[in-house]
Amino acid sequence: MSSDRLVIAIDGPSGSGKSTTSKGVAKTLGLAYLDTGAMYRAIACAYLDAGVDPSDTQAVIAATLGAKLEISTDPEVEKVVVNGVEVTERIRQPEISAKVSAVSTIAECRQDLVARQRAIIEGAASGIIAEGRDITTVVAPDADVRILLTADPEIRMARRKVDLGGAIDSAQLADQVLRRDRDDSKLVNFTTAADGVTGLDCSDLTLAETIAAVLDLVAATR
Ligand code: DC
Repeated sequence: MSSDRLVIAIDGPSGSGKSTTSKGVAKTLGLAYLDTGAMYRAIACAYLDAGVDPSDTQAVIAATLGAKLEISTDPEVEKVVVNGVEVTERIRQPEISAKVSAVSTIAECRQDLVARQRAIIEGAASGIIAEGRDITTVVAPDADVRILLTADPEIRMARRKVDLGGAIDSAQLADQVLRRDRDDSKLVNFTTAADGVTGLDCSDLTLAETIAAVLDLVAATR
């Protein structure tokens, strides 16, 4: 490992359990936590509030570059503010899940968010765990520990349904999990582990077992 400051990168498809696992690991190790998906979701709020049509690429880019974004990196505190408006709960709504790919499939938007994410990671004095789709490969390819967390599609859809309190029909669920992954994987590969990235399939693992498996991988680097 490069220094005492630990950086962990976790990627994976929707519903693989990245967020819950990462938060658990951050709390255990006293690290900051960055949910990069929340940043893409906050930008979706910003372009929608600006009255931008998702098909208007240039306007989505302008809304992204102009957005003032604040995100908590305390694993105990979920808070996202965009252009002065708190969107912590709104970013989880199905409307945002359905519209966020308009941001994540535009290369210019990704470049802007990647730069913001790198700045947050560099600024985390005592280390950080960052999760998303391109953290192990693009945002923090030099991270001390890099993991691709996967799970079977049926299990991911079931987990996403539980996250949403069961209030979703199967067509919406398939849209949120399978269609979004298909769209998002056009610009980023998060289906196979890149060189140096450890694949971790948590289909048959409980949350506690998944956190323990990540902690084992961290321990192996120290
Ligand atoms: O993980 P999530 O469902 O909150 O992510 C929201 C969207 O942002 C999803 O469509 C994937 C995309 N995303 C991305 O393209 N790259 C990231 N690093 C994080 C999320």
